[in-house]
Parts: sequence; structure tokens; C-alpha cells
Amino acid sequence: MPTVLITGANRGIGLELTRQYAADGWRVLATCRYPNKATDLAAIKGDVEIHRLDVDDAPSIGALAASLEGQSIDVLFNNAGVIGKRGASIADIDYAVWAQTMTTNLFGPVRVAWALRDNVMASTLKVMAFTSSKMGSIGENTGGNVIYRSSKTALNMAVSCLAQELESKGVTAIVFHPGHVRTDMGGPTAPVSATDSAAGMRKVVAGLVPGDNGTFWNYDGAPLPW
Ligand SMILES: NC(=O)c1ccc[n+]([C@@H]2O[C@H](COP(=O)([O-])OP(=O)(O)OC[C@H]3O[C@@H](n4cnc5c(N)ncnc54)[C@H](OP(=O)(O)O)[C@@H]3O)[C@@H](O)[C@H]2O)c1
Repeated sequence: MPTVLITGANRGIGLELTRQYAADGWRVLATCRYPNKATDLAAIKGDVEIHRLDVDDAPSIGALAASLEGQSIDVLFNNAGVIGKRGASIADIDYAVWAQTMTTNLFGPVRVAWALRDNVMASTLKVMAFTSSKMGSIGENTGGNVIYRSSKTALNMAVSCLAQELESKGVTAIVFHPGHVRTDMGGPTAPVSATDSAAGMRKVVAGLVPGDNGTFWNYDGAPLPW
């Protein structure tokens, strides 16, 4: 069976992705910051290996890459992310929070992707999926939340560049809007369940063709504007 590596696998969308891939028989490398506290993750049945990974911490990324050297990863799901500060406008920006949000939502996933590129290139499927957000779309911008939006816009551009750099290696790198999902981040009244979000993104990943490299998708398979 194929292998998927998921960041932020201990709760929310990452936990549900882990559940569904494991239920399908995939080998899941489920990563989180605090494995000893990841009780929901540890309860998932199947071929699930839990690895420590803090995407803010370059040595943590290096240690994970070293421990996985020589192992192929068919789908790298860069899912971990933070909201930063809700509602932030330029007028009341907190630059320390902005920098921290960029560290987690932009530098983290790019570092992880680069550190694990050989593992992905050695696999059969060669997919890198990034959980971005429609809030990072300039085409759909309605203003506000500048910290979170700009971190995801920057991620989208970085993935677009990464897609071009790795295209000749057969990698398909894409970004997702997972929907407005009922998680700690999305809140209890969000319209989309984690189950439907994860199932939709998995279906998109399963149908990818090389020509999809560098594209932006809604979780339901609709294309999104950059
Ligand atoms: N929910 C939505 O409506 C929505 C909409 C658009 C996009 N997204 C994106 O979808 C992704 C998942 O969101 P979610 O709703 O599942 O959020 P969530 O419930 O808040 O979970 C966030 C996950 O990211 C992990 N994480 C945060 N910082 C990390 C770090 N430095 N290193 C490693 N892991 C870290 C968290 O781990 P800890 O438990 O250790 O904090 C947690 O596992 C995020 O990238 C988010 O921006 C979500």
C-alpha cells in the first residue's frame, strides 16, 4: 500500500486524514508536536507510525528527515497550520504574531517539503499536498485577517515555485482549501465536517495527473483562483 505523511495529525483535519488513510490500508506517518499527548491519534487502528515534528523547528524537521531516509512517501500532506490573530487589520497588526504565523504556515511546510523531497521523488505517486486556504486567494479576497491571509497567499506562491522546481522530477505539488471545517480553528458552527473535508481532498489526490502540478483546489474538487 502507499505511504502518506501528515503534519499536524493529532487533531482537526490532520487527525481525520490519518483516520481515513489508515482505514483504507495506507501506511501513515502521522506527525505531531507532542506524541505523548496525542491520545486520539494513538487510538487510530491500522498501519500508523507516530513521529514527532514541530514545523517551526528546523532541527525537528531535519531529525524527521534523517529518521525516514531511504523510505518512500507517496503523498506528503503538509497540513499543520495556525490562525495567528483573528480579525487582524493592518491598523492593529501585531508584527510578532505575524512573524510567528509566517514561520508556521509558510516556512514550516516549505522546509518540510524540501527536507522530504527525496522520499517523495522515490515513491510511486509523488504528490505534495498543502492545506492552504481560500483566505489566501487574492482573487477571492474580501479583506481583513491580514495575518492569516498573507501567510496562506505566501504559501500558495511558494508551492507554485516548488511545483516548477520539482516538475522535471515527476512531483505533483498542489494547494487545497479544505472548506470551512468544524475544528478548533474553524469553530463549532462551520458548515463542513472534517470527515467530508478529508474525504474530498483524498478524492482529489487520488485523481491527480501530472498536468495538475501547481494548481489550487477546493476540497470538493473545484478549481480555485490564485
Ligand atoms: N478549519 C478550517 O475551517 C480551515 C479552513 C481553511 C484552511 N485550514 C487549514 O487547514 C489546516 C488544518 O486546520 P485545522 O482546522 O485542522 O486546525 P486545528 O484544528 O487548529 O489543528 C491545527 C493542527 O496544526 C498543528 N500545528 C500547529 N502548529 C504546529 C507546529 N508548529 N508544528 C506542528 N504542528 C503544528 C496543531 O498541533 P497542536 O495540537 O500541537 O497545536 C494541530 O494538529 C491548517 O493549515 C489550516 O490553516 C483550516
